[in-house]
Amino acid sequence: MTRQLLKGKKGIIFGALDDQSIAWKVAERCKDAGAQITLTNAPVALRMGKIQELGARLNAEIIPADATNLEELEQLFQKSMQVLDGKIDFVLHSIGMSVNVRKQKPYTDLNYDWMQKSLDISAISFHKVMQTAWKLDALSNQASVLALTYIAAQRVFPDYSEMAEAKALLESFARSFGYHLGSQKKIRVNTISQSPTRTTAGAGIKGFDTFFDYADKMSPLGNADALSCADFCTVMFSDLSRMITMQNLYHDGGFSSMGMNPSLLNES
Ligand code: NAI
Repeated sequence: MTRQLLKGKKGIIFGALDDQSIAWKVAERCKDAGAQITLTNAPVALRMGKIQELGARLNAEIIPADATNLEELEQLFQKSMQVLDGKIDFVLHSIGMSVNVRKQKPYTDLNYDWMQKSLDISAISFHKVMQTAWKLDALSNQASVLALTYIAAQRVFPDYSEMAEAKALLESFARSFGYHLGSQKKIRVNTISQSPTRTTAGAGIKGFDTFFDYADKMSPLGNADALSCADFCTVMFSDLSRMITMQNLYHDGGFSSMGMNPSLLNES
């Protein structure tokens, strides 16, 4: 990246599991753009994933935190401010997991204990991250916060199951915190609604390949990949996007505005 868009900025990136993860690409791009970052993931993911390799390459400290655990989140912010030597200028929440999807429960027969867990990990964790940052006054003036979401929050994609409700809740938390943090310290909070992307979380959705191909053909620009999502996140963390807040921003090659693409009809 020729412009050091994030020079001098300090960020926390949640959710890099392996080199397919969207957060992995975001971490690489942010570093390229001149930022200093810490990386975090759930302790179990640190054992199973490859984040150590990323941390070593980017010279980024890895701080374990289960995003549903307030104590661990508090330690994460404290440690990040210590390691990065100051308040945090940007945060990426790139976390999602549905127990019912994983266990292939039909939408009309969901297990509610599992649903609670799915909502906690995929949506309430965002509120917990923001509330922890608020209480510690850990974010700098004009900081930028992003969470990744999917269009199933607005439209029905049956196999996305309870994750649709999780994403709707996540987007609503982002808008509400956008008000509180914007009024307090001009901090902006947005969600990015990303195209289907081949990652561990993506592949967990039933029929993902069909889903992926359909969206790719429907979108005039085709599906947005993880790298272009990382570029967009970099712009959203930079001062260039300083007046954008409380938005759900579609990063989907035009999918969200399409009704039908004749090239799909011509296939049959
Ligand atoms: P991924 O599987 O690489 O990332 C999901 C991350 O969530 C993993 O790193 C996992 O360890 C982390 N995580 C799970 N439980 C956690 C917990 N309790 N505490 C902390 N971290 C936890 O997959 P991907 O696709 O990069 O997902 C990132 C985000 O993008 C998710 O919010 C996902 O819903 C969203 N998204 C993904 C799309 C796709 O097609 N892959 C499309 C649109 C949005």
